[in-house]
Amino acid sequence: MSASLRARVLPDYGAMSAAAADLVTAKLRERPHAVFMVPTGTTPLGMYRRLVARHEEDGLSFALATFFNLDEYMGLPPDHPASYHVYMRENFYGRVDVDPGKVHVPDGFAPDPEADCGRYEKEIRAAGGVDLCVLGIGRNGHVGFNEPGASFGSRTRVVRLAESTRRVNAADFEGGRAPERAISVGMRTISDSREVLLLASGANKAGAVAAAVGGGVSEEVPASALRHHPNVSFLLDRGAASGLGGSMTEGRPA
Ligand code: GLP
Repeated sequence: MSASLRARVLPDYGAMSAAAADLVTAKLRERPHAVFMVPTGTTPLGMYRRLVARHEEDGLSFALATFFNLDEYMGLPPDHPASYHVYMRENFYGRVDVDPGKVHVPDGFAPDPEADCGRYEKEIRAAGGVDLCVLGIGRNGHVGFNEPGASFGSRTRVVRLAESTRRVNAADFEGGRAPERAISVGMRTISDSREVLLLASGANKAGAVAAAVGGGVSEEVPASALRHHPNVSFLLDRGAASGLGGSMTEGRPA
């Protein structure tokens, strides 16, 4: 494991989600104008639920913060039920006090997607870069929609989804067919974030986590790029940590 990679193994999904919500809350308290990059998928749902509850019950405010989403499917209008626009609205942006002018989700329906990707990178730079990037991880080690083979130097661009990812995500689509392409921020965009937090839950992520944490650093395992990052934490539940062969204990790397 790299010297800078911290990993915490929490007993279960709820504890992992609470720890993630704590880290986001702490960043926001320390820096109300913080810039976040945020994921979709099933893994961060518990974190979003807790952040919404803190907003409703404790008045935690997101109004000054800026948000960039990691990715979006190509060819879906923003009101498509499987789009990440809808996911974010239903699970987070629509339920807290974010400033709509400070919320950015890649536009999978843009008439000129490549130009739009360039614009997205410019917006990230104009916001001052990302303070905290929260990631999930795909079963094949993808982060955002950076599939195996994605260049560590990549920026926001149109990508082709791996067949295995399309199969996993097919259930979200009527007819069971996920789009072939997506827009994803690049590996370089992610690595430029000042701090990175990767969340993983469940035994079906154990192989990807083990490859990312303990295998070689390779573009075939996109998440392994994080081992070069100076400030990265993995929050894992026991299932996701089960491939680490006892190299971790609860709370800290052994
Ligand atoms: C999706 C998203 C990723 C996400 C990953 C894992 O396809 N593009 O950003 O991290 O796959 O998803 P889940 O958390 O549902 O396992």
